[in-house]
Amino acid sequence: MSTVLVTGAARGLGLDFTKRYAARGWKVLACARKPDALKDIEGDIHPHSLEVTDYEAVKALARKLSGEAIDVLICNAGIGGSRGEGAQSLGSLDPKVWREVFEVNTLAPLMMAEAFADHVARSRQRKLIAISSILGSIANNNGGRYFYRASKSALNMEWNCLARDLAGKNVICVALHPGWVQTDMGGSGAPLTIEQSVPGMIRVIDGLELSDNGRYLQYDGTELAW
Ligand SMILES: NC(=O)c1ccc[n+]([C@@H]2O[C@H](COP(=O)([O-])OP(=O)(O)OC[C@H]3O[C@@H](n4cnc5c(N)ncnc54)[C@H](OP(=O)(O)O)[C@@H]3O)[C@@H](O)[C@H]2O)c1
Repeated sequence: MSTVLVTGAARGLGLDFTKRYAARGWKVLACARKPDALKDIEGDIHPHSLEVTDYEAVKALARKLSGEAIDVLICNAGIGGSRGEGAQSLGSLDPKVWREVFEVNTLAPLMMAEAFADHVARSRQRKLIAISSILGSIANNNGGRYFYRASKSALNMEWNCLARDLAGKNVICVALHPGWVQTDMGGSGAPLTIEQSVPGMIRVIDGLELSDNGRYLQYDGTELAW
């Protein structure tokens, strides 16, 4: 049996990852701020309460799960940050929003990766996945959304470093863009449904091999330019 850990597991893309991996018979370590929302899902689901920016809680969970081998760790929890009154636009940048966005999107995934690297390294599949965004691509940039874009660019750099630093343990580190998807974050005008995005990402994750370590891919397997 394979094991996946998902953060932000009770809503949006994270909830769909949880349901789909459970339906495939995987053991799912489903981490969420409100894990009660997960109790009616069928399958081998183990809900854990986790605010990803509570780093003592992250370390405590890693200790609690010290016997686990985690085949796939998906750092999915993320925030868009306020767009109100141009908080992320040049001319009205709000530093408070920068700190919030970087804390959740950039620092928390790295602290998760550090805490759980050994759990992943001792598994059979050894896959460490960051749910990033094409908005973090400098090559594809068209401006605006300063904080969100920068938080995902920095996340990409972290995963690029992890790919090098964990290569000796044969861990496969990949940054994945889900596409622009109809979730609370993506909004109803997004071109993709969750049902198009998440199965695509799972196919990509299933197919990852050691030679994919350090890649930046989107939900359909297309390579993205950094
Ligand atoms: N949707 C898109 O178009 C799109 C595009 C590119 C990238 N992404 C990325 O995909 C990931 C998932 O986004 P989504 O579209 O599913 O967004 P969403 O529907 O807004 O869900 C965000 C998830 O992150 C969790 N979360 C946020 N802050 C957290 C914290 N401090 N601690 C623990 N959990 C936290 C939320 O938990 P609560 O329910 O407790 O708030 C929720 O489960 C994010 O990393 C996002 O940047 C999304």
